[in-house]
Amino acid sequence: MPSETLTIVDNRTGRDYEVPIADGTIRATDLRQISAEEGDGGLMSYDPAYLNTSSCRSAITYIDGDAGILRYRGYPIEQIAEEASFLETAYLLLEGELPTAEQLAAWEGDVRTHTYVHTNFTKFLEGFRYDAHPMGMLLGAIGALSTFYPDAKHIADPESRYLQRVRLIAKMPTIAAFVFRHSRGLPYVFPRNDLGYIGNYVNMTFEIGGRHEPNPVLQRALEILLILHADHEQNCSTSAVRSVGSSHVDPFSAVSAGIAALYGPLHGGANEAVLVMLDEIGDVKNVPAFIESVKAGKGRLMGFGHRVYESYDPRAKLIKKVADQVFEQTGLNPKLEIALELERIALEDEYFVSRKLYPNVDFYSGLIYQAMGYPTDYFTVLFALGRLPGWIAQWEEMLNDSEQKISRPRQTYIGQGVREFVPMSKR
Ligand code: ACO
Repeated sequence: MPSETLTIVDNRTGRDYEVPIADGTIRATDLRQISAEEGDGGLMSYDPAYLNTSSCRSAITYIDGDAGILRYRGYPIEQIAEEASFLETAYLLLEGELPTAEQLAAWEGDVRTHTYVHTNFTKFLEGFRYDAHPMGMLLGAIGALSTFYPDAKHIADPESRYLQRVRLIAKMPTIAAFVFRHSRGLPYVFPRNDLGYIGNYVNMTFEIGGRHEPNPVLQRALEILLILHADHEQNCSTSAVRSVGSSHVDPFSAVSAGIAALYGPLHGGANEAVLVMLDEIGDVKNVPAFIESVKAGKGRLMGFGHRVYESYDPRAKLIKKVADQVFEQTGLNPKLEIALELERIALEDEYFVSRKLYPNVDFYSGLIYQAMGYPTDYFTVLFALGRLPGWIAQWEEMLNDSEQKISRPRQTYIGQGVREFVPMSKR
């Protein structure tokens, strides 16, 4: 049996070191003992953007990027998307196991009884300009929840954590719907707790004059999209939640940091960017020229590429199926033709093939959201709604992990050496 250790020879000193390997990793702190001279602080690993650094041990989500595998708590995403509800998926992510019928009923009941927000919240939202970006409003609003629930700072108390978990999952759809209505200048519709989680959210978003005709196919499609986004291990927004949460701030503030990270066009903002890109292309006949401009370095093919998937994103495959069901109800989105042509050409083109660039989850999700009636700048709000259980599960896992401390990366200083301060008159 080979020994699970790594021998490192420091050619600066000729000394060798043996460091343990566990779960395919060495501990970066084990490198600290490797020192060339007294007081140099020991060797560090340099890893901008964490390309090869495991920041935690996690039991929530498993991804095999080469094989295109995604599992929540061991269950394949394909089976969860087929069988589970969104709240059942949230329970699985948060508790680690699928709920029994009683557990699910209790969980749904808890969420249902916390859907209302303080009426001051509507005044808070009114402070935003009529054209405020929905993600800017969402991140401000979720951060503001901490001022309504100061008890949320008791993060060491499991009961308090459960309550904040419920509050977040219950109130996020209400706030997301209010944000939608604010953008449209429509009066807010308050939660109807006789409806299910998705039905209530859709009703709060689209009800006009007390009427909304629910479409079960579209509601299930939205639910599947939320499930597909529910967790994705240590992505940018989840790392933001963990990192900010590691300071022991309340979960509303930590989650609003995740929303801020998700807002960016390289992360959750990509589905919005895909639609903007499709608009710019305008017609199928312009696709080859657009592909050439991407290859010439004039911009990226949005919705393509992924840090961890070097084959087809399994969520993108499932989303294509959902797209068919949705377009059957709503009629074809005219931009679909452009998207399909982009995908066809990119999947055959040496530039994209050699870089292992495949469609990611965002390539088709925007087209579906648009067909459902959501405006482009609202898409990332739906992503946030889906990702919320993952953020909370990861935040709690971080808090319960005795190895975790306040997140504080090191740096390699490359600036000036010490200099004498020059007074203004001499500069
Ligand atoms: N279009 C064209 N070229 C691309 C693209 C793209 N979408 N993505 C990567 N490349 C190229 C890069 O130019 C680079 O080429 P080079 O080696 O010649 O310099 C190579 O592929 C590697 O790219 P990196 O930027 O190093 O890859 P990284 O892992 O850092 O980026 C990312 C991943 C951010 C997702 C990137 O692929 C991208 O910008 N995609 C478009 C935005 C997008 O769709 N984001 C959504 C991600 S999924 C999500 O958040 C749910």
